[in-house]
Amino acid sequence: MVRLVSNPGDGSIQAFSDVKELRSFLTGPALPAFVDAPWAILFLGVVFLLHPLMGAVSLVGALTLIGLALLSDARTRKRLAEASGLSGQAEMFVGSCVRSAEATAALGMLPGIRKVWSERAGASLLCTDTATETAAAIMSSAKAVRQILQMLIMAVGAWLVLEQCMGPGTMFAAAMLVSRALSPVEQALGAWRGFVSARQASARLFSLVAQDPPALPPAPLPRPDAQLVLSRVTAPVPGGNVPFLHGIELSATGGEVLAIVGPSGAGKSVLGRVLVGLIRPLAGEIRLGGLDMAATPAELRGRFVGYLPQDLQLVDGTVRETIARFDTAPDEDSMVRAARLAGMHELVMGLPRGYDTKLGVGGVTLSGGQRQRLALARALYGEPPLVVLDEPDASLDAEGSAALQDCLLALKAEGRAIVVISHRPNLLSMADRIVELIGGRVRVQGPREQALAEIRARLRGERQPEPVGSKS
Ligand SMILES: Nc1ncnc2c1ncn2[C@@H]1O[C@H](COP(=O)(O)OP(=O)(O)O)[C@@H](O)[C@H]1O
Ligand SMILES: [Mg+2]
Repeated sequence: MVRLVSNPGDGSIQAFSDVKELRSFLTGPALPAFVDAPWAILFLGVVFLLHPLMGAVSLVGALTLIGLALLSDARTRKRLAEASGLSGQAEMFVGSCVRSAEATAALGMLPGIRKVWSERAGASLLCTDTATETAAAIMSSAKAVRQILQMLIMAVGAWLVLEQCMGPGTMFAAAMLVSRALSPVEQALGAWRGFVSARQASARLFSLVAQDPPALPPAPLPRPDAQLVLSRVTAPVPGGNVPFLHGIELSATGGEVLAIVGPSGAGKSVLGRVLVGLIRPLAGEIRLGGLDMAATPAELRGRFVGYLPQDLQLVDGTVRETIARFDTAPDEDSMVRAARLAGMHELVMGLPRGYDTKLGVGGVTLSGGQRQRLALARALYGEPPLVVLDEPDASLDAEGSAALQDCLLALKAEGRAIVVISHRPNLLSMADRIVELIGGRVRVQGPREQALAEIRARLRGERQPEPVGSKS
């Protein structure tokens, strides 16, 4: 899950097409050929019993066909892997373009995008084409081998009959058996391309599963206390493995708002992802009320965490499904409570079908601020003890900001641990403690006034590098 979520599009789209590939191979016409192939051994054995010379000729033929299959494998495997990688890239590129379709159209990026896409898709087609050509050439050689073999068997049989080593009936039986024995081998050869692709797909899927084994049905855990503690946490950026955050020590207590500030690119959002368990730390520990977040399966962890990501992407669904996190057994009360807390309830009631209004494709389109509040409600569903909000006010108007402040006050009163990543003075004024992050390290940490004073003093010092002599 870590990989799927933190790197959307990287492994996930490929994994879906791999599953499709594997399924179409397993349910397609190719599989019987592979299942029938072992019968060839039995048929060949019977031919040997009829006459060793005929057996030997058939065996040579069968070995030639198997040799051709291996050759086909060796010649096409690399190309097909390349083709699949390239087509995955092209698909991902299209996906990212569709996600930012408006900017693409408004800024006239289409010709450039078309060029990049056609280059990638073309490269993939070229690879597939080369592989298909090679496979087809080998396939026709195999056909020729089989026909030659068939004639050879008849010739050897006729000769043996003339030499009176076997009867004509035996000769025909042998010829039929050889044809039976070799046809699955030849068919398997025809299906080899599908087999290679399916094998590569299954290898990728296995390695994906090995990286992130399916969780056992999570045993219910007691709800942890709202006490978040990070000790000496070192963590990479999503999908990376070199430390980006270094030695982070911080804690957030129930009933307190911890604000994380810092310049753009300081790692605030990365830290937010670490707090909610999206990024596994390389070293150190994250504990929520004693619960080791990195070691807890995502399904369980998710119930204890409310997270509002900075880069909002909502899954298409109804308002109810969105707020209730697509819960299979949604808690209606908690859902409405979360909507009320986020200041969404009245807005939702004003929608054509209330909580059953469909959002996204084919449904209602919400404004940026409304989407942000909806995502806030989703974060609050299930009363999680830890709430992490990454720039929750980025697209809010004055009314939305006021609602957010009320929401934070309510959460504080309920004793939740709240982490807010923001620069807005309104939200900072609500913070009990402030952490300043610079270059992936904690620079300043402390109670609000003290931390703000420290940060301001430093900023003033940086703006006036040369001491002028007179201090006002
Ligand atoms: N998904 C990602 N993949 C790779 N690098 C990332 C990713 N997200 C963030 N980073 C890198 O981590 C650094 C910090 O990013 P971020 O935490 O988003 O900054 P901010 O403090 O502005 O929220 C940036 O240099 C960015 O390049
Ligand atoms: Mg950020």
